[in-house]
Amino acid sequence: MTQYERAVNDRLEKLKRRPRARILAIETSCDETAAAVVENGRTVLSSVVHTQIPLHVPYGGVVPEIASRSHVQKIGAVVRRALDEAGLTLPELDAVAVTNGPGLVGALLVGLSYAKGLAYAAGLPFLGVHHIASHIAANYLSDLSLEPPFTCLVASGGHSHIIVVEDYERYRLLGRTRDDAAGEAFDKVARVLGLPYPGGPNLEKLAREGDPTRYRFHSAFNEGDGFDFSFSGIKTAVVNRLHNAQQAGETIDRADLAASFQKTVVDILADKAVRAAQAQPGAAGEKLALAGGVSANGALRAAMEQRANKAGIAFYCPDFAYCTDNAAMVGSAAYGKLMRGETDALSLNAVPYLSIEEQTQGA
Ligand SMILES: Nc1ncnc2c1ncn2[C@@H]1O[C@H](COP(=O)(O)OP(=O)(O)OP(=O)(O)O)[C@@H](O)[C@H]1O
Ligand SMILES: [Mg+2]
Repeated sequence: MTQYERAVNDRLEKLKRRPRARILAIETSCDETAAAVVENGRTVLSSVVHTQIPLHVPYGGVVPEIASRSHVQKIGAVVRRALDEAGLTLPELDAVAVTNGPGLVGALLVGLSYAKGLAYAAGLPFLGVHHIASHIAANYLSDLSLEPPFTCLVASGGHSHIIVVEDYERYRLLGRTRDDAAGEAFDKVARVLGLPYPGGPNLEKLAREGDPTRYRFHSAFNEGDGFDFSFSGIKTAVVNRLHNAQQAGETIDRADLAASFQKTVVDILADKAVRAAQAQPGAAGEKLALAGGVSANGALRAAMEQRANKAGIAFYCPDFAYCTDNAAMVGSAAYGKLMRGETDALSLNAVPYLSIEEQTQGA
């Protein structure tokens, strides 16, 4: 046994005697450099997010090389600030957790390497966390009473999943997108409308001034009984509507188009998520949560809440600070694993494509 492994075992023994875990969490899977300290999976002692948005605006989207380089430049300062704001030093922590996938491989490797270095230097347990499990765990930070089982819609830049959260770290995938993720569709339509990156929030802003009933976009696939989504056809229909109008010299109201597109996507997401919850027997059907970057969308939050309430289902969504990428959600997602003593080896690699079900314990 190495000196590091002995130190980790001592720490895990200490946790068994006094179950209070303060986890330093790090997230660098895409274009946010984030660090946080979270106590017992529920209490955020600090959460620092450095966004790279200004760096990527000139390119209209995330440039992976620029993202990796910026993570390298910022990670030290971001982690130091998270520790300072929590008023804790490295030896006072109980573990280091980090996103190890899915995400941009170069970006993931920066956080992963940094977290490993800290864990090794301080003799702390080290844990890799699935990014989508973290997005789901953002709900535990915002509603301290929420416990599995529940049904969850994850709508983010790279994912649109309906998942039954059977238990902490036990997930059953009910449905997924067949093509674009919801956030990706928002970003692509925003781009065609001439809105700057990041598309989703800017499209929402424009949609607030528009009439959502002005243009209609049908999608036979999404009207079916299944729980899979498809957003690529809707995106193409919006793009074609805009191009046809331009070619015909017809003026098109961009705000109405944005509002109509948003309503179409929101209705599909909310309908399927509520139907999925209704199809679950027992407690998993009584609670519906929302997660991922698109959960910051006010129209989606309102539609989900209204439909869930009408169906007698309790609705949960993260505070705005924990909707898009952050490290506090990583610290929450790592808690159960740490308390079971399931740490990762320092040889853990970054996995750009990592399914949520592979993360499931004992499946
Ligand atoms: N208010 C909003 N309305 C619609 N979409 C939004 C809003 N805010 C953020 N988004 C979208 O959420 C996505 C970013 O979310 P998030 O940070 O979770 O994605 P990611 O980490 O890039 O992808 P993933 O989590 O799937 O790996 C982007 O596509 C963005 O446009
Ligand atoms: Mg994300």
